[in-house]
Order: sequence, then C-alpha cells, then structure tokens
Amino acid sequence: MSIAPEETRLPFATRASRLTGSEIDSSTSLLQKQTHDVVRLAMGSPAAEAIPADQLSELAAELFPGNPDAFDYGPTEGESGLLDQLEPFTGDDRERMLVTGGGMQGLDLVCKLFVDPGDLVVVEAPTYTNGSATIASYEGDLLEVPVDDDGMIVDSLIEQVKRAGRLPKLIYSIPTFQNPSGKSMSLERRIELLRCAEEWGAVVLEDDPYGHLSFIGDPPPSLVELSGRAPWVIGVHTFSKIVAPGLRVGWLRADPSIIERMINAKQCMDTCSNVPAQVLVTEFMVRGMMESHLERLTPIYRERKDSMLAALEEAFGGTGTEWTDPGGGFFTWLTLPDFVDARDLFPTALANGVAYVPGDAFATTTPFGSSLRLCFASNTTERAAEGIRRLKLSIEQKYEV
Ligand SMILES: Cc1ncc(COP(=O)(O)O)c(C=O)c1O
Repeated sequence: MSIAPEETRLPFATRASRLTGSEIDSSTSLLQKQTHDVVRLAMGSPAAEAIPADQLSELAAELFPGNPDAFDYGPTEGESGLLDQLEPFTGDDRERMLVTGGGMQGLDLVCKLFVDPGDLVVVEAPTYTNGSATIASYEGDLLEVPVDDDGMIVDSLIEQVKRAGRLPKLIYSIPTFQNPSGKSMSLERRIELLRCAEEWGAVVLEDDPYGHLSFIGDPPPSLVELSGRAPWVIGVHTFSKIVAPGLRVGWLRADPSIIERMINAKQCMDTCSNVPAQVLVTEFMVRGMMESHLERLTPIYRERKDSMLAALEEAFGGTGTEWTDPGGGFFTWLTLPDFVDARDLFPTALANGVAYVPGDAFATTTPFGSSLRLCFASNTTERAAEGIRRLKLSIEQKYEV
C-alpha cells in the first residue's frame, strides 16, 4: 500500500515514507473481499491439507488446560524446549539460535542491526518483496542483481558493485528454492558469493524458508554451513511453510555475539515470541510428528508442482511462454510473451476467477512486466489446473489472441 505521510501534516519520521508494505500480503485482504470463486495462486500459503490442524488441536487440548505457564511471558531467546529441538533439527548450536516471530521478524532484526540509511544492500531480481520492503524500511539502497537458472549471477554482482563505486553492507539472498523464481543457487556461485562478501566485509543474510521442502533430495549446502558458520553469515528460517504460517514462529542462526544484540533488539519489539505457539511446535517436534509430517508433505508438493507444470504446458506450450521447474518450495515463475502486462491483466484474471502476483511486485528497478508468480502448493491439482485455464482465457480475452 502506498501512503504519502506528508499529506496528513503529522510529524512522521522520514522512514515512514519508506514503508511500502507488501503487495503479496495486500493480496490476502483483496482476495478475502471477493465474493465469487477465485483460484488463489497468489499467496505462498501451505496447502490446507498440509496444515496439521488436528494434531496441533489435540496437542493444545492436552497441553494447555491448567498450564498458565504456557501463556506467560517467555525468555526472549525462545522457549528452552524449542531450542533443544532446534539443535538436532538444524545441526546448529543453541547459543547460535534465536526464536523469532516468523521469518519476517528475523529479516527485520538483521536489517535493524546492519542497515543504516543510505547503505548499499544487494537483493536478487526478482526477490521476496517483503524482504526488500524491510530493507527499504531501514532506508537501505537496493542494488538488484539478476537471477538465472543457477541463482544470483555473482559475476553481475561483482560488475555492479564496481560500477556503484561503493561496497555493499548486506547481501540478501534466498539461495534455495527461491521465492519467487523457484530457482536455487549453484554450489559454485554460493562459494563465489561468500568469497565476495568476505572480501567486501559484507554481511550475508540467507533467507531459507523452503530448504526442508526439496523434491530433489538434499539441496546444496546452506551459505551458513558453507561459510563454516562465519559470523558474517546469518540464516533466517521459519515454521510457516513446514507447519503453519499463523503460528508466527521462526528462528534465526547467527554468531552468539550477534544473538546477544538481537535479543536486545527483540526486547524493544515484542519481548518474546508467542509462547503458546512455541509450546505447540516444541511438542510437535518432541513427539516425532515433524519428521513424519515433512515426509508426507514433500510428495504432495512435488505432485502439485508437476501437475501445475503439465497444466502450463497444455495452456501455453509453443506460445513462447516460459516457466521455471523448481527443485522444491512453493513457486513457479511464469514469463509470458512481451505483449502481456501481468499487472494490466490482473483485473481481467480476477474477474475470471484466478489470482496471482504480478512480476513487477518482486523488483523495484528491474522490469518484470510480462512475468508473474504462481504458487503451486496451496491448491489441489484440479483446482490449480482450473486456475491455469482461467489465466489462459484471461489473456485471450484481454489481448484478443
Ligand atoms: C523468502 C521468504 N522469506 C520470509 C518469509 C516470511 O516468513 P514468515 O511468514 O514466517 O514471516 C517468506 C514467506 O513467504 C518467504 O517466502
């Protein structure tokens, strides 16, 4: 949502004008207002069948009655039981972990600690809008580096940094099953990116919500691991995609000296993360439910991805339209012929009963007018195929092709 604070005559901080919000999140409100049938390919929500609502409800019924502690304030770093579970789950040490209010709070904490107004911050193009909006809210200057089949093009990054004449302070990357492109960074590029960051004295922010949802076996090693857990590499993670987004529980991995400062920063934000939600996630892990849940999820999402790509082939094969084939995660990135403007097309598509996020929402300077993001995870294969048919119909109507 775009607001001009100066029009209200209130003494807003200058940063208020840099709060752009998120087109992805706004689409949730927009879609809730629709009264007709809409296939929702816009939000990155888990499948309804993939949310373990019954298991969580049973745990809640067992754990919460007579247990006021589960509703009290908790330690800022996170519930001790959850940190115990995160150690084996991540293979990392508890001193390097902080439980956060979803992945978004992790991104916010990193920017709060490392981004001053005017700092150069590298982002991928396209990138996760909420991540770039968070950087902008701390008044960082975005440097967009294109992504190809092997993730961020590190040669282009080096070239652009040279041209900018100053070094980036932070490099924001979603190297594994990227949102929105679905692409992953190759091992070679990961190593090169880390080399550059170390040389430049930049912090690497690795945003990794989808690494546990792989269709291709083990994804490439994370930047955190590849760097040998160097203090200048921070990992942001979340239970939103692997358990449920409404819980608002995530975690980050960083050097203990950074965690200490983050705890101070978090204490000025929300004191601690939601305790009942942490209690539920902890018990979900303690009872081994997480492992079986993840084993069940991956084949569902792989099938949905394959089915959406088949529907795209049927609708758009041979028309010059391209789409990505992700190795995991939630999204495919569709690039239509040049005459299509995905934003102009959106009202027709919505009227025809399909929603997506236009490509230009994922960058500020790089043009992605004919591209759009589709989430294959949320809908059944039949529903998603119907959505693709509606998308094709909308293009035919709007452009008379
Ligand atoms: C790349 C990326 N980072 C962070 C998030 C935010 O996660 P959360 O909903 O846990 O705040 C998302 C959610 O869509 C995401 O795709």
